[in-house]
Amino acid sequence: MNYRLAYRIGFHPWEDLAEHPPFAGKLLELVAREEDKYGPPYGSALDLGTGSAVWGVELAKRGWEVTGIDIVEKALRRARERVDEAGVEIDLVHGDVTALRESGVGSGFRLVLDTGTFHGLTDAQREAMGLGVTAVAAPDATVLLDCFAPRRRGPLPRGASRRDVDSAFPGWRVTDVEIADSEPDALARLFKFDERFYRLRRDPDGA
Ligand SMILES: C[S@@+](CC[C@H](N)C(=O)[O-])C[C@H]1O[C@@H](n2cnc3c(N)ncnc32)[C@H](O)[C@@H]1O
Repeated sequence: MNYRLAYRIGFHPWEDLAEHPPFAGKLLELVAREEDKYGPPYGSALDLGTGSAVWGVELAKRGWEVTGIDIVEKALRRARERVDEAGVEIDLVHGDVTALRESGVGSGFRLVLDTGTFHGLTDAQREAMGLGVTAVAAPDATVLLDCFAPRRRGPLPRGASRRDVDSAFPGWRVTDVEIADSEPDALARLFKFDERFYRLRRDPDGA
């Protein structure tokens, strides 16, 4: 998916999911699970492919110390506007999720969130992202990934299966798979997004 072009022409339907209760409710339920574990202050969260920081801002409002990273400058400009309007603090980094260690995002993140970036990457990029997340996440971190089911969708993200998630995150274990209901989005219906949230924790017995 050409995100640079998408933001240039103002095509960013994923931003509307914040206003779609079945999707937003499930995602925030997963976030709340982490919050209940720690109690405030929750610590730092990394929003991968933050876009215009729809979810980054939501996390910051809830009390997380948020860093958002995106490769598209126009997306980050929209993010800056949203952040300022919300009156929260977010560290916005222009960088590549497949080179997290070099990006300057820092480390020790307790929560790593990806709504819609991983599932559009190539296998090699996914592997690089997994390695980067493993390096910058805290020992007790949780990763939340939102992925379409694998399917050909032309220029739209090809999606990722549970097996794809497993193979990109060898030191992690998928603990939960939840429906990420993006209906009644017309695109979601047309392209059968069949979306899922994957929750991952480090695998004590894993690689
Ligand atoms: C579907 S959008 C989702 C944006 C945001 N997470 C949301 O839910 O509103 C995917 C985002 O990933 C970003 N992205 C894609 N590949 C990237 C990469 N290699 N490094 C950093 N960001 C990337 C795009 O620029 C885009 O903002």
